[in-house]
Amino acid sequence: MGWPYIGETLQLYSQNPNIFFASKQKRYGDIFKTHILGCPCVMLASPEAARFVLGTQSHLFKPTYPKSKERLIGPSAMFFHQGSYHSHLRKLVRAALSPDAIRKMAPQVDSLALSMLDSWSGGCIMNTFHELKKFSFEVGILAVFGELEDHYKEQLRKNYSMVDDGYNSYPTNIPGTPYRKALLARRRLGKILANIVLERKEKRLFHVHLLGSMLNSKDESREALNLEQVTDNIIGVLFAAQYTTASVMTWILKYLHDNGKLLEALKAEQDGIQRSNQRENRSISWAQTSKMTLTKKVIQETLRMESIISFTYREAVTDVEYKGYLIPKGWKVMPLFRNIHHNLEYFTDPEKFDPSRFEVAPKSSTFMPFGSGTHSCPGSELAKLEILILVHHLVTKFRWEVVGTEHGIQYRPFPVPMHGLPARFWKESTVPEKSGFS
Ligand code: HEM
Repeated sequence: MGWPYIGETLQLYSQNPNIFFASKQKRYGDIFKTHILGCPCVMLASPEAARFVLGTQSHLFKPTYPKSKERLIGPSAMFFHQGSYHSHLRKLVRAALSPDAIRKMAPQVDSLALSMLDSWSGGCIMNTFHELKKFSFEVGILAVFGELEDHYKEQLRKNYSMVDDGYNSYPTNIPGTPYRKALLARRRLGKILANIVLERKEKRLFHVHLLGSMLNSKDESREALNLEQVTDNIIGVLFAAQYTTASVMTWILKYLHDNGKLLEALKAEQDGIQRSNQRENRSISWAQTSKMTLTKKVIQETLRMESIISFTYREAVTDVEYKGYLIPKGWKVMPLFRNIHHNLEYFTDPEKFDPSRFEVAPKSSTFMPFGSGTHSCPGSELAKLEILILVHHLVTKFRWEVVGTEHGIQYRPFPVPMHGLPARFWKESTVPEKSGFS
């Protein structure tokens, strides 16, 4: 448990968190305790234990986030709740992001991806992660609002980026600090969203998108969601949608850049689809994405390797017994997705990037990139759709070259290649002869 009060916080934050967890697991096994950020915690690195906490016995655990982070997203966001309020919101979000709802978005996501890639091409150095964040933000906006005026998009984007800067900074309310700036930006986000809500109510624009269904909904007691509940949840969904997906896409670009044979194979898969769409003069469809079998394995393997959400937090609401261990009431419980995804017992040669391992389905509960159980990710299908469409255009029409020799990972808070993977992009037809492009 480390030192009194500070526990093992310094050990965790002074090294790569994955090494901290992996070395503990090696020493103590799949279930061990520690003390970080002032809280006693139980870490769980076994699939069964993760399923117990997140799924079968999830009522014994509540979601728990540091208050400083909760203030930035908004206390009424679904992440922080359980019970009937959470299920009501989850139903709305799942419906708005269900395959039936998002298949209609494919042509719009397609044109967003193409115009973004077009704007990159020309050989200037781009910060890939930074650019992909803009793309996933636009897709998030589409899912939440449908059409949205450019001036609103710009205001939302600007303030979001300040919230992001403050999210992982030291939470102090002193003027000039990133956290304080983030709080102010969060307040502005609330006001912008309140204006959008007001406009939509006046114009009676209750379309099928998430905002519309939130405005139209009634819970079991026929109560509508109040403005704060709507804005906190819209902010939460946009937050959850942006960085995670952009991080995965950035890693895919890196893996494809580093692995010429895989890129060729992927290109062969995507070229067929591209030719047929060109012949018929149509954009990519939902049905076509289901045929991208190799591309899907590349996404799965990237999700496993990088485990973007490497663990999650819950808190025991009562004393809980699990396989002879006592988890005392009030202790934090952390299922460690990354440790499970990198366990030799479930994935042979786990540190090797090998999409072919997904030719066989992983054993139950050993692959949880989108979490599991009552709080599992409702945006997984949308995330996969946008990644598939991006990869389709990237490999069929563009070439890219990673710039710089610094390899490594930065945590923002999700793992991202060093410096956001600086790279140059060209249209395939205009690639300069001497480049070392992919
Ligand atoms: C590759 C991209 C993504 C990854 C890896 C990812 C991963 C996750 C994980 C692991 C959780 C569960 C967290 C927990 O149990 O504490 C989660 C929850 C959530 N995700 Fe995602 N996510 C991604 C994309 C998205 C997108 C695109 C959206 C929305 C458009 C979204 C919306 C949400 C929401 C609203 C929750 C909270 C669900 C709840 O509390 O019931 N995510 N995500």
